[in-house]
Amino acid sequence: MSTPTSTLGLLERYDRPGPRYTSYPTAVEFHNGVKDEVYVQHLARLNAETDRPISFYLHLPFCQERCAFCGCNVVITPHLDVAARYLDAVEQEIDLIASHLPDRRSIGQMHWGGGTPTYYTPQQLSKIFERISRHFTFTTDAEIGVEVDPRVTTHEHLDALRSLGFNRVSMGVQDFDPRVQEAINRIQSFELTRDLILHSRAIGYGSINVDLIYGLPHQSVESFTHTLSQVLDLRPDRVAAYSFAFVPWMSAHMKDIDRAALPSVETKLALLAATVDAFLGAGYRQIGMDHFALPTDELGRAVDAHTLRRNFMGYTVTDTTDMVAAGVSAIGDVQGAFVQNTKKLTEYYSALAAGRFPIERGYERDRDDDIRRYVITELMCNFRLEKAVVDQRFSIDFDAYFATELAALTAAEGSPQADGLVTVSADRIEVQPVGRMFVRNVCMVFDKYLPLRTGGPKPVFSRTV
Ligand SMILES: C[S@@+](CC[C@H](N)C(=O)[O-])C[C@H]1O[C@@H](n2cnc3c(N)ncnc32)[C@H](O)[C@@H]1O
Ligand code: SF4
Repeated sequence: MSTPTSTLGLLERYDRPGPRYTSYPTAVEFHNGVKDEVYVQHLARLNAETDRPISFYLHLPFCQERCAFCGCNVVITPHLDVAARYLDAVEQEIDLIASHLPDRRSIGQMHWGGGTPTYYTPQQLSKIFERISRHFTFTTDAEIGVEVDPRVTTHEHLDALRSLGFNRVSMGVQDFDPRVQEAINRIQSFELTRDLILHSRAIGYGSINVDLIYGLPHQSVESFTHTLSQVLDLRPDRVAAYSFAFVPWMSAHMKDIDRAALPSVETKLALLAATVDAFLGAGYRQIGMDHFALPTDELGRAVDAHTLRRNFMGYTVTDTTDMVAAGVSAIGDVQGAFVQNTKKLTEYYSALAAGRFPIERGYERDRDDDIRRYVITELMCNFRLEKAVVDQRFSIDFDAYFATELAALTAAEGSPQADGLVTVSADRIEVQPVGRMFVRNVCMVFDKYLPLRTGGPKPVFSRTV
Protein backbone atom coordinates (compact mmCIF):
# COMPACT_ATOMS: atom_id res chain seq x y z
CA MET A 1 0.00 0.00 0.00
CA SER A 2 1.31 3.48 -0.71
CA THR A 3 0.29 6.77 0.87
CA PRO A 4 -2.42 8.44 -1.26
CA THR A 5 -1.51 11.52 -3.32
CA SER A 6 -3.86 13.73 -1.31
CA THR A 7 -2.32 12.63 2.00
CA LEU A 8 -1.71 16.18 3.15
CA GLY A 9 -5.34 17.11 2.62
CA LEU A 10 -6.48 14.00 4.48
CA LEU A 11 -4.13 14.74 7.36
CA GLU A 12 -5.38 18.30 7.63
CA ARG A 13 -8.95 17.12 7.82
CA TYR A 14 -8.59 13.98 9.94
CA ASP A 15 -5.56 14.25 12.24
CA ARG A 16 -7.30 15.40 15.41
CA PRO A 17 -7.88 14.12 18.92
CA GLY A 18 -10.03 11.01 18.99
CA PRO A 19 -10.65 7.81 20.97
CA ARG A 20 -8.89 4.51 20.21
CA TYR A 21 -12.19 2.70 20.84
CA THR A 22 -10.90 -0.11 23.02
CA SER A 23 -14.44 0.30 24.36
CA TYR A 24 -17.63 2.16 23.52
CA PRO A 25 -18.61 4.27 25.37
CA THR A 26 -14.98 5.13 26.08
CA ALA A 27 -13.56 5.20 29.61
CA VAL A 28 -13.99 8.99 29.58
CA GLU A 29 -17.73 8.39 30.13
CA PHE A 30 -17.18 6.26 33.25
CA HIS A 31 -18.48 7.98 36.39
CA ASN A 32 -18.35 7.34 40.11
CA GLY A 33 -22.05 6.52 40.38
CA VAL A 34 -21.11 2.93 39.55
CA LYS A 35 -19.55 1.20 42.55
CA ASP A 36 -19.43 -2.13 44.34
CA GLU A 37 -23.25 -2.51 44.75
CA VAL A 38 -23.90 -2.05 41.02
CA TYR A 39 -21.25 -4.63 40.19
CA VAL A 40 -22.78 -7.13 42.62
CA GLN A 41 -26.15 -6.70 40.86
CA HIS A 42 -24.59 -7.30 37.48
CA LEU A 43 -22.78 -10.42 38.71
CA ALA A 44 -26.14 -11.72 40.01
CA ARG A 45 -27.66 -11.03 36.60
CA LEU A 46 -24.79 -12.92 34.98
CA ASN A 47 -25.53 -15.98 37.13
CA ALA A 48 -29.23 -15.80 36.26
CA GLU A 49 -28.74 -15.22 32.52
CA THR A 50 -26.03 -17.51 31.28
CA ASP A 51 -23.45 -20.18 32.05
CA ARG A 52 -21.30 -19.26 29.04
CA PRO A 53 -17.56 -19.26 29.76
CA ILE A 54 -16.37 -15.88 30.96
CA SER A 55 -13.17 -13.93 30.34
CA PHE A 56 -10.78 -13.03 33.14
CA TYR A 57 -8.32 -10.12 33.10
CA LEU A 58 -5.65 -9.72 35.75
CA HIS A 59 -3.61 -6.53 36.05
CA LEU A 60 -0.12 -6.83 37.55
CA PRO A 61 1.11 -3.22 37.42
CA PHE A 62 4.73 -3.38 38.60
CA CYS A 63 7.81 -2.49 36.55
CA GLN A 64 11.38 -1.92 37.72
CA GLU A 65 11.91 1.19 35.60
CA ARG A 66 9.67 3.43 33.56
CA CYS A 67 9.88 3.60 29.79
CA ALA A 68 9.54 7.25 28.74
CA PHE A 69 6.70 6.55 26.29
CA CYS A 70 4.60 4.38 28.59
CA GLY A 71 0.92 5.23 28.87
CA CYS A 72 -0.10 2.11 30.82
CA ASN A 73 -1.25 2.02 34.44
CA VAL A 74 2.04 1.08 36.09
CA VAL A 75 3.66 1.18 39.49
CA ILE A 76 7.43 1.63 39.32
CA THR A 77 9.34 0.14 42.24
CA PRO A 78 12.48 -1.89 42.74
CA HIS A 79 11.08 -3.01 46.15
CA LEU A 80 9.94 -6.59 45.81
CA ASP A 81 8.15 -6.53 49.18
CA VAL A 82 5.78 -3.79 47.90
CA ALA A 83 4.87 -5.98 44.96
CA ALA A 84 4.54 -9.08 47.17
CA ARG A 85 1.92 -7.36 49.33
CA TYR A 86 -0.09 -6.66 46.18
CA LEU A 87 -0.34 -10.38 45.45
CA ASP A 88 -2.05 -11.00 48.80
CA ALA A 89 -4.68 -8.40 47.89
CA VAL A 90 -5.12 -9.89 44.41
CA GLU A 91 -5.80 -13.27 46.03
CA GLN A 92 -8.46 -11.63 48.20
CA GLU A 93 -10.06 -10.08 45.12
CA ILE A 94 -10.05 -13.41 43.26
CA ASP A 95 -11.82 -15.01 46.24
CA LEU A 96 -14.33 -12.14 46.33
CA ILE A 97 -15.16 -12.46 42.63
CA ALA A 98 -15.52 -16.23 43.00
CA SER A 99 -17.84 -15.82 45.98
CA HIS A 100 -20.35 -14.07 43.69
CA LEU A 101 -20.22 -16.74 40.99
CA PRO A 102 -21.19 -20.41 40.96
CA ASP A 103 -18.46 -22.82 42.01
CA ARG A 104 -16.09 -23.75 39.15
CA ARG A 105 -17.50 -21.27 36.67
CA SER A 106 -15.70 -21.81 33.37
CA ILE A 107 -13.17 -19.40 31.89
CA GLY A 108 -12.73 -19.37 28.10
CA GLN A 109 -10.19 -16.56 27.91
CA MET A 110 -7.70 -15.19 30.40
CA HIS A 111 -5.11 -12.47 30.03
CA TRP A 112 -2.50 -11.18 32.45
CA GLY A 113 -1.35 -7.67 31.58
CA GLY A 114 0.50 -4.86 33.16
CA GLY A 115 2.91 -3.39 33.92
CA THR A 116 5.01 -6.45 33.65
CA PRO A 117 3.63 -9.73 35.03
CA THR A 118 7.11 -11.28 34.82
CA TYR A 119 8.34 -8.71 37.32
CA TYR A 120 7.25 -11.48 39.72
CA THR A 121 9.10 -14.77 40.18
CA PRO A 122 7.79 -17.94 38.49
CA GLN A 123 6.80 -19.19 41.97
CA GLN A 124 4.72 -16.08 42.71
CA LEU A 125 3.00 -16.32 39.33
CA SER A 126 2.22 -20.02 39.91
CA LYS A 127 0.67 -19.18 43.27
CA ILE A 128 -1.71 -16.65 41.71
CA PHE A 129 -2.63 -19.09 38.97
CA GLU A 130 -3.38 -21.75 41.56
CA ARG A 131 -5.67 -19.34 43.38
CA ILE A 132 -7.68 -18.80 40.20
CA SER A 133 -7.75 -22.56 39.45
CA ARG A 134 -9.05 -23.22 42.94
CA HIS A 135 -12.34 -21.52 41.99
CA PHE A 136 -12.60 -21.72 38.21
CA THR A 137 -12.28 -24.33 35.45
CA PHE A 138 -10.63 -23.46 32.14
CA THR A 139 -12.36 -24.68 28.97
CA THR A 140 -10.24 -27.15 27.00
CA ASP A 141 -9.63 -24.56 24.27
CA ALA A 142 -9.18 -21.56 26.61
CA GLU A 143 -6.91 -18.75 25.36
CA ILE A 144 -4.53 -17.98 28.21
CA GLY A 145 -2.14 -15.12 27.56
CA VAL A 146 0.48 -13.08 29.36
CA GLU A 147 2.43 -9.89 28.63
CA VAL A 148 6.16 -10.11 29.25
CA ASP A 149 8.97 -7.59 29.08
CA PRO A 150 11.91 -9.46 27.51
CA ARG A 151 14.39 -7.46 29.60
CA VAL A 152 13.23 -9.09 32.85
CA THR A 153 11.86 -12.40 31.56
CA THR A 154 13.77 -15.68 31.91
CA HIS A 155 13.36 -19.11 30.34
CA GLU A 156 12.17 -20.25 33.77
CA HIS A 157 9.32 -17.71 33.64
CA LEU A 158 8.24 -18.90 30.22
CA ASP A 159 8.56 -22.60 31.20
CA ALA A 160 6.53 -22.12 34.40
CA LEU A 161 3.74 -20.19 32.69
CA ARG A 162 3.59 -22.69 29.84
CA SER A 163 3.32 -25.60 32.24
CA LEU A 164 0.43 -23.84 34.00
CA GLY A 165 -1.42 -23.76 30.67
CA PHE A 166 -0.53 -20.36 29.20
CA ASN A 167 -0.61 -20.69 25.41
CA ARG A 168 -0.12 -17.07 24.25
CA VAL A 169 2.69 -14.71 25.03
CA SER A 170 3.04 -11.05 24.12
CA MET A 171 6.39 -9.23 24.21
CA GLY A 172 7.07 -5.53 24.18
CA VAL A 173 9.70 -4.53 21.61
CA GLN A 174 8.68 -1.04 20.34
CA ASP A 175 11.79 -0.42 18.19
CA PHE A 176 15.24 -2.04 17.82
CA ASP A 177 17.07 1.14 16.81
CA PRO A 178 19.64 2.06 19.54
CA ARG A 179 19.02 5.82 19.16
CA VAL A 180 15.27 5.38 19.60
CA GLN A 181 15.80 2.98 22.51
CA GLU A 182 17.97 5.51 24.29
CA ALA A 183 15.39 8.26 23.80
CA ILE A 184 12.61 6.10 25.29
CA ASN A 185 14.72 4.73 28.16
CA ARG A 186 14.37 1.14 27.02
CA ILE A 187 17.51 -0.70 25.97
CA GLN A 188 16.58 -4.11 24.61
CA SER A 189 18.74 -6.04 22.17
CA PHE A 190 17.51 -7.96 19.16
CA GLU A 191 19.42 -11.04 20.37
CA LEU A 192 17.68 -11.06 23.75
CA THR A 193 14.26 -10.77 22.10
CA ARG A 194 15.09 -13.46 19.55
CA ASP A 195 16.22 -15.86 22.27
CA LEU A 196 12.90 -15.52 24.13
CA ILE A 197 10.81 -15.85 20.99
CA LEU A 198 12.69 -18.98 19.91
CA HIS A 199 12.34 -20.46 23.39
CA SER A 200 8.59 -19.64 23.55
CA ARG A 201 8.09 -21.33 20.21
CA ALA A 202 10.14 -24.38 21.21
CA ILE A 203 8.11 -24.99 24.35
CA GLY A 204 4.78 -24.73 22.55
CA TYR A 205 3.24 -21.28 22.96
CA GLY A 206 0.69 -21.39 20.14
CA SER A 207 0.68 -17.67 19.49
CA ILE A 208 3.54 -15.23 20.02
CA ASN A 209 2.86 -11.50 19.73
CA VAL A 210 5.29 -8.60 19.43
CA ASP A 211 4.35 -4.97 20.26
CA LEU A 212 5.84 -2.13 18.22
CA ILE A 213 5.21 1.60 18.40
CA TYR A 214 5.45 4.07 15.52
CA GLY A 215 5.77 7.79 16.14
CA LEU A 216 8.57 7.53 18.75
CA PRO A 217 11.44 10.06 18.96
CA HIS A 218 14.07 9.78 16.19
CA GLN A 219 12.12 7.24 14.15
CA SER A 220 12.44 7.64 10.39
CA VAL A 221 10.95 5.48 7.66
CA GLU A 222 14.45 4.14 6.99
CA SER A 223 15.24 3.29 10.61
CA PHE A 224 11.82 1.77 11.28
CA THR A 225 11.97 -0.29 8.09
CA HIS A 226 15.10 -1.90 9.52
CA THR A 227 13.26 -2.72 12.77
CA LEU A 228 10.39 -4.16 10.72
CA SER A 229 12.73 -6.45 8.80
CA GLN A 230 14.30 -7.64 12.07
CA VAL A 231 10.81 -8.39 13.43
CA LEU A 232 9.96 -10.25 10.22
CA ASP A 233 13.09 -12.40 10.70
CA LEU A 234 11.53 -13.52 14.01
CA ARG A 235 8.19 -14.22 12.31
CA PRO A 236 5.90 -13.68 15.32
CA ASP A 237 2.33 -14.97 14.87
CA ARG A 238 0.94 -11.55 15.69
CA VAL A 239 2.20 -7.99 15.70
CA ALA A 240 0.61 -4.95 17.32
CA ALA A 241 2.01 -1.73 15.84
CA TYR A 242 0.60 1.01 18.04
CA SER A 243 0.48 4.66 17.16
CA PHE A 244 2.46 6.47 19.86
CA ALA A 245 -0.15 8.07 22.11
CA PHE A 246 1.69 11.18 23.29
CA VAL A 247 -0.40 12.43 26.21
CA PRO A 248 1.90 14.50 28.49
CA TRP A 249 -1.15 16.14 30.10
CA MET A 250 -2.14 12.69 31.44
CA SER A 251 1.25 11.00 31.91
CA ALA A 252 3.61 13.64 33.34
CA HIS A 253 6.76 11.59 32.68
CA MET A 254 6.15 11.99 28.92
CA LYS A 255 7.28 15.61 29.37
CA ASP A 256 10.82 14.14 29.35
CA ILE A 257 10.36 13.23 25.69
CA ASP A 258 12.03 15.72 23.39
CA ARG A 259 9.18 17.04 21.23
CA ALA A 260 11.66 18.20 18.60
CA ALA A 261 12.75 14.58 18.08
CA LEU A 262 9.21 13.33 17.42
CA PRO A 263 8.45 12.52 13.78
CA SER A 264 6.13 14.92 11.94
CA VAL A 265 2.56 13.82 11.35
CA GLU A 266 3.41 13.12 7.68
CA THR A 267 6.32 10.91 8.76
CA LYS A 268 4.09 9.19 11.29
CA LEU A 269 1.61 8.31 8.57
CA ALA A 270 4.47 7.14 6.34
CA LEU A 271 5.70 4.92 9.22
CA LEU A 272 2.27 3.30 9.40
CA ALA A 273 2.20 2.89 5.61
CA ALA A 274 5.67 1.25 5.73
CA THR A 275 4.46 -1.06 8.51
CA VAL A 276 1.37 -2.11 6.58
CA ASP A 277 3.47 -2.66 3.43
CA ALA A 278 6.05 -4.74 5.30
CA PHE A 279 3.58 -7.09 6.99
CA LEU A 280 1.16 -7.47 4.10
CA GLY A 281 4.16 -8.07 1.83
CA ALA A 282 5.32 -10.85 4.15
CA GLY A 283 1.92 -12.59 4.01
CA TYR A 284 0.36 -11.28 7.24
CA ARG A 285 -3.31 -10.31 7.42
CA GLN A 286 -4.17 -6.82 8.66
CA ILE A 287 -6.28 -6.90 11.81
CA GLY A 288 -8.04 -3.61 12.42
CA MET A 289 -5.92 -0.52 11.89
CA ASP A 290 -2.65 -1.54 13.43
CA HIS A 291 -2.46 -5.28 14.16
CA PHE A 292 -1.22 -8.07 11.93
CA ALA A 293 -1.46 -11.86 12.12
CA LEU A 294 -0.15 -14.78 10.10
CA PRO A 295 -2.94 -16.51 8.14
CA THR A 296 -2.27 -19.63 10.23
CA ASP A 297 -3.04 -17.74 13.45
CA GLU A 298 -6.68 -17.83 14.54
CA LEU A 299 -6.90 -14.02 14.37
CA GLY A 300 -5.71 -14.21 10.75
CA ARG A 301 -8.39 -16.81 10.01
CA ALA A 302 -11.05 -14.69 11.74
CA VAL A 303 -10.25 -11.64 9.64
CA ASP A 304 -10.80 -13.70 6.49
CA ALA A 305 -14.15 -14.85 7.89
CA HIS A 306 -15.13 -11.31 9.07
CA THR A 307 -15.67 -12.64 12.59
CA LEU A 308 -13.15 -10.59 14.57
CA ARG A 309 -14.20 -9.01 17.86
CA ARG A 310 -12.46 -6.72 20.29
CA ASN A 311 -12.52 -6.21 24.04
CA PHE A 312 -10.26 -4.62 26.65
CA MET A 313 -7.77 -7.46 26.22
CA GLY A 314 -7.43 -6.70 22.49
CA TYR A 315 -8.63 -8.45 19.34
CA THR A 316 -10.25 -11.83 19.80
CA VAL A 317 -12.19 -14.49 17.93
CA THR A 318 -14.61 -14.97 20.82
CA ASP A 319 -17.90 -13.11 20.47
CA THR A 320 -18.43 -10.63 23.28
CA THR A 321 -18.33 -12.46 26.60
CA ASP A 322 -18.70 -11.18 30.11
CA MET A 323 -15.35 -10.22 31.55
CA VAL A 324 -14.36 -10.07 35.19
CA ALA A 325 -11.19 -8.22 36.08
CA ALA A 326 -8.87 -8.11 39.06
CA GLY A 327 -6.05 -5.75 40.03
CA VAL A 328 -5.64 -1.97 40.26
CA SER A 329 -7.15 -0.02 37.34
CA ALA A 330 -8.55 -3.23 35.79
CA ILE A 331 -11.77 -2.88 33.79
CA GLY A 332 -14.49 -5.53 33.83
CA ASP A 333 -17.51 -5.75 31.55
CA VAL A 334 -20.39 -7.75 33.00
CA GLN A 335 -23.96 -7.83 31.67
CA GLY A 336 -23.91 -4.35 30.16
CA ALA A 337 -21.83 -2.60 32.81
CA PHE A 338 -18.21 -1.49 32.68
CA VAL A 339 -16.57 -1.35 36.09
CA GLN A 340 -13.10 -0.01 36.77
CA ASN A 341 -11.03 -0.62 39.88
CA THR A 342 -9.24 2.20 41.66
CA LYS A 343 -5.75 3.00 40.38
CA LYS A 344 -4.44 3.68 43.89
CA LEU A 345 -2.82 0.82 45.82
CA THR A 346 -3.91 2.18 49.23
CA GLU A 347 -7.58 2.35 48.16
CA TYR A 348 -7.32 -1.06 46.54
CA TYR A 349 -6.02 -2.61 49.76
CA SER A 350 -8.52 -0.89 52.04
CA ALA A 351 -11.59 -1.83 49.94
CA LEU A 352 -10.54 -5.48 49.87
CA ALA A 353 -9.74 -5.51 53.57
CA ALA A 354 -13.34 -4.34 54.12
CA GLY A 355 -14.65 -7.12 51.85
CA ARG A 356 -15.73 -4.71 49.07
CA PHE A 357 -14.91 -4.68 45.38
CA PRO A 358 -12.36 -1.87 44.89
CA ILE A 359 -14.46 -0.26 42.16
CA GLU A 360 -13.95 3.45 41.61
CA ARG A 361 -16.14 4.14 38.60
CA GLY A 362 -17.98 2.54 35.72
CA TYR A 363 -20.78 2.83 33.25
CA GLU A 364 -24.09 1.03 32.68
CA ARG A 365 -24.81 0.87 28.95
CA ASP A 366 -28.25 1.50 27.51
CA ARG A 367 -29.64 0.08 24.26
CA ASP A 368 -28.38 2.96 22.14
CA ASP A 369 -24.87 2.46 23.57
CA ASP A 370 -25.02 -1.22 22.64
CA ILE A 371 -26.14 -0.49 19.08
CA ARG A 372 -23.38 2.08 18.57
CA ARG A 373 -20.87 -0.21 20.26
CA TYR A 374 -21.69 -2.96 17.78
CA VAL A 375 -21.37 -0.58 14.80
CA ILE A 376 -18.02 0.81 16.00
CA THR A 377 -16.62 -2.65 16.78
CA GLU A 378 -17.55 -3.96 13.33
CA LEU A 379 -15.90 -1.00 11.61
CA MET A 380 -12.76 -1.14 13.78
CA CYS A 381 -12.34 -4.93 13.49
CA ASN A 382 -13.78 -6.01 10.17
CA PHE A 383 -13.73 -2.73 8.22
CA ARG A 384 -17.30 -3.28 7.16
CA LEU A 385 -20.78 -3.25 8.52
CA GLU A 386 -23.81 -5.10 7.16
CA LYS A 387 -26.85 -2.94 7.84
CA ALA A 388 -29.22 -5.96 7.80
CA VAL A 389 -27.27 -7.62 10.62
CA VAL A 390 -27.72 -4.52 12.81
CA ASP A 391 -31.43 -4.36 11.89
CA GLN A 392 -31.90 -7.98 12.87
CA ARG A 393 -29.78 -7.91 16.00
CA PHE A 394 -31.36 -4.77 17.47
CA SER A 395 -34.77 -4.62 15.71
CA ILE A 396 -34.12 -1.22 14.15
CA ASP A 397 -34.08 0.27 10.65
CA PHE A 398 -30.40 1.19 10.28
CA ASP A 399 -30.93 3.91 7.66
CA ALA A 400 -33.60 5.65 9.73
CA TYR A 401 -31.81 5.21 13.07
CA PHE A 402 -28.53 6.59 11.75
CA ALA A 403 -29.88 9.12 9.22
CA THR A 404 -27.77 11.97 10.65
CA GLU A 405 -24.60 9.86 10.81
CA LEU A 406 -25.11 8.54 7.26
CA ALA A 407 -25.58 12.10 5.99
CA ALA A 408 -22.30 13.10 7.69
CA LEU A 409 -20.50 10.08 6.23
CA THR A 410 -21.70 10.70 2.67
CA ALA A 411 -21.93 14.50 2.22
CA ALA A 412 -20.87 15.53 -1.28
CA GLU A 413 -17.83 17.44 -0.02
CA GLY A 414 -15.39 16.93 2.84
CA SER A 415 -17.02 13.71 4.09
CA PRO A 416 -15.29 10.35 4.65
CA GLN A 417 -17.05 9.01 1.52
CA ALA A 418 -16.10 12.04 -0.60
CA ASP A 419 -12.50 11.61 0.60
CA GLY A 420 -12.47 7.93 -0.42
CA LEU A 421 -12.24 6.56 3.13
CA VAL A 422 -15.54 4.63 3.00
CA THR A 423 -18.24 3.58 0.60
CA VAL A 424 -21.81 3.52 1.79
CA SER A 425 -24.26 1.42 -0.22
CA ALA A 426 -27.85 0.30 0.36
CA ASP A 427 -26.57 -2.84 2.16
CA ARG A 428 -23.33 -1.93 3.91
CA ILE A 429 -20.60 0.47 4.93
CA GLU A 430 -17.13 -0.55 3.79
CA VAL A 431 -13.88 1.04 4.93
CA GLN A 432 -11.57 1.41 1.91
CA PRO A 433 -7.83 0.63 2.09
CA VAL A 434 -6.84 4.29 2.54
CA GLY A 435 -9.62 4.64 5.11
CA ARG A 436 -8.06 1.96 7.33
CA MET A 437 -5.51 4.47 8.58
CA PHE A 438 -8.36 6.81 9.52
CA VAL A 439 -10.84 4.22 10.79
CA ARG A 440 -10.95 5.94 14.19
CA ASN A 441 -12.29 9.04 12.41
CA VAL A 442 -14.97 6.98 10.65
CA CYS A 443 -16.07 5.51 14.00
CA MET A 444 -16.13 8.97 15.56
CA VAL A 445 -19.17 9.77 13.36
CA PHE A 446 -21.14 7.15 15.33
CA ASP A 447 -19.93 8.27 18.78
CA LYS A 448 -22.78 10.08 20.49
CA TYR A 449 -20.59 11.40 23.30
CA LEU A 450 -17.71 12.83 21.30
CA PRO A 451 -19.20 16.30 20.69
CA LEU A 452 -19.47 16.71 24.48
CA ARG A 453 -15.82 15.76 24.99
CA THR A 454 -14.04 17.86 22.41
CA GLY A 455 -13.27 21.55 22.22
CA GLY A 456 -12.56 21.88 25.97
CA PRO A 457 -9.44 23.65 27.29
CA LYS A 458 -7.58 20.36 27.91
CA PRO A 459 -7.29 17.57 25.33
CA VAL A 460 -8.94 14.30 26.34
CA PHE A 461 -7.76 11.94 23.59
CA SER A 462 -4.51 11.37 21.71
CA ARG A 463 -4.47 12.34 18.02
CA THR A 464 -5.92 9.90 15.51
CA VAL A 465 -2.77 9.68 13.36
C1 LIG B 1 2.03 -3.43 29.38
S1 LIG B 1 3.07 -3.10 28.04
C2 LIG B 1 3.71 -4.66 27.49
C3 LIG B 1 4.44 -5.58 28.47
C4 LIG B 1 5.73 -5.11 29.09
N1 LIG B 1 5.46 -4.20 30.15
C5 LIG B 1 6.68 -4.51 28.10
O1 LIG B 1 6.76 -3.29 28.02
O2 LIG B 1 7.33 -5.28 27.39
C6 LIG B 1 1.86 -2.87 26.81
C7 LIG B 1 2.24 -2.23 25.48
O3 LIG B 1 1.54 -1.00 25.34
C8 LIG B 1 2.19 -0.21 24.36
N2 LIG B 1 2.23 1.16 24.83
C9 LIG B 1 2.54 1.61 26.06
N3 LIG B 1 2.47 2.96 26.11
C10 LIG B 1 2.08 3.38 24.88
C11 LIG B 1 1.82 4.66 24.31
N4 LIG B 1 1.95 5.80 25.00
N5 LIG B 1 1.43 4.71 23.01
C12 LIG B 1 1.28 3.58 22.30
N6 LIG B 1 1.52 2.35 22.79
C13 LIG B 1 1.91 2.25 24.06
C14 LIG B 1 3.59 -0.78 24.19
O4 LIG B 1 3.73 -1.29 22.88
C15 LIG B 1 3.67 -1.88 25.23
O5 LIG B 1 4.41 -2.97 24.79
S1 SF4 C 1 6.18 -0.20 28.50
FE1 SF4 C 1 6.02 -2.04 29.73
S2 SF4 C 1 8.00 -2.14 30.84
FE2 SF4 C 1 7.84 -0.07 30.06
S3 SF4 C 1 6.97 1.08 31.79
FE3 SF4 C 1 5.26 0.47 30.43
S4 SF4 C 1 4.50 -1.41 31.25
FE4 SF4 C 1 6.52 -1.07 32.17
